[in-house]
Amino acid sequence: MSDAPPDRPTFQLDGREIPFEPGQSVLAAALAAGRYIPYLCYHREFEPHGSCKVCTVRVNGRPHASCTEPARAGDVVESSAEDLTEQRKTLVQFLFTEGNHFCPSCEASGSCTLQAVGYELGVTNAHFSPLFPDRPLDASHPEVLLDLNRCILCELCVRASALVDKKSVFSLSGRGITKHLVVNAESGRLGDTHLSLEDKAMSVCPVGVILRKRRGFSVPIGQRAYDAEPIRAVATSAAASRREDP
Ligand code: SF4
Ligand code: FES
Repeated sequence: MSDAPPDRPTFQLDGREIPFEPGQSVLAAALAAGRYIPYLCYHREFEPHGSCKVCTVRVNGRPHASCTEPARAGDVVESSAEDLTEQRKTLVQFLFTEGNHFCPSCEASGSCTLQAVGYELGVTNAHFSPLFPDRPLDASHPEVLLDLNRCILCELCVRASALVDKKSVFSLSGRGITKHLVVNAESGRLGDTHLSLEDKAMSVCPVGVILRKRRGFSVPIGQRAYDAEPIRAVATSAAASRREDP
């Protein structure tokens, strides 16, 4: 079945033709065409770096991160196969057990991408034993609270702060299970950086780590982005509205 205008190249995603622009990734083209592929570390304003692997699809039989995989005419892409969904579920369950995520009391509940992708994939429990890492809150900044318990290491704040804000407030340190987010100040405290509320880094976190103080629950639970619609509807309609921008 074809949704493609006749003048654009297409690839096939789960049996449907997806048109794309040269240079577009499989994920970006799919979203623009109204087809959802689950993802966590992708953000349309930044170069994809393919770290979370939640967006993995099979392209001509081989696994690839769809956010970094360029769309090519005639490729056959599978995303909704059962084994791919199971792999994504496992990755999301790892993330839930690696940090300390208590959704019902989290300021980001209802607007958190990890929570919404979990619902999308049918994650009903963490499956693995929680690690309960010790990650103290950083409340040293007058306007911003940093709750590292929820960090999924997507690097979006690192890139936003370095590339857009030109401040490099955040970095990732360590490897594997010891990898963690750090604040680039001699004290290691957010209050000793130049982070400000207007920074891009304030708005890119897909979970509830970087929080504005004194704004808790200003949007009531039940009225947040993913309360009304599942993430597949929110993500594809946002991509479609950008496509229709003048
Ligand atoms: S604080 Fe948020 S944006 Fe930064 S790496 Fe962690 S999850 Fe990603
Ligand atoms: S969204 Fe593609 S690897 Fe994270």
